[in-house]
Amino acid sequence: MLIRYKKTFEKIAMGLLSFMPTEKDLKKLQQTIKEYETEEAWQLFLWKEEDIIGLLGVLFQNETNAIVIQHISVNPSHRFQGIGKKMVKALKEMYTDKEIISNENTAAFVEKCDVC
Ligand SMILES: CC(C)(COP(=O)(O)OP(=O)(O)OC[C@H]1O[C@@H](n2cnc3c(N)ncnc32)[C@H](O)[C@@H]1OP(=O)(O)O)[C@@H](O)C(=O)NCCC(=O)NCCS
Repeated sequence: MLIRYKKTFEKIAMGLLSFMPTEKDLKKLQQTIKEYETEEAWQLFLWKEEDIIGLLGVLFQNETNAIVIQHISVNPSHRFQGIGKKMVKALKEMYTDKEIISNENTAAFVEKCDVC
């Protein structure tokens, strides 16, 4: 299930976020986590089964009523089992009144989730 980020999940969240090609640099990664912790429009979710195995980072765009998926990542040991698609589906179910869109860093995968 999709759960909300809390500071106690910081290490696991940083580990998952670091799988994003854009977050390989430690300074950039720390900056990104900080934005999720401080900016109201930036919201981080984690996918929890027995353990936390996925991350979904979004931006609420108030002007357009859209939610932009900025970061999406699954623990390498749990890939190709539908977790990424389940996370997008759960987000859509949570915010049925919003349009869920991707940005240039997540489009390749998120566009595959049109039917999620
Ligand atoms: C992208 C990612 C989240 C997918 O998670 P997952 O749980 O393995 O995905 P699912 O099992 O739900 O879906 C698998 C499908 O996604 C596709 N896929 C995996 N990574 C992809 C990528 N970077 N770009 C486009 N498609 C991708 C697979 O080819 C597969 O396609 P199919 O359904 O046609 O067979 C995971 O590979 C990951 O964490 N990658 C590193 C982080 C990253 O690059 N994020 C940005 C992706 S654009």
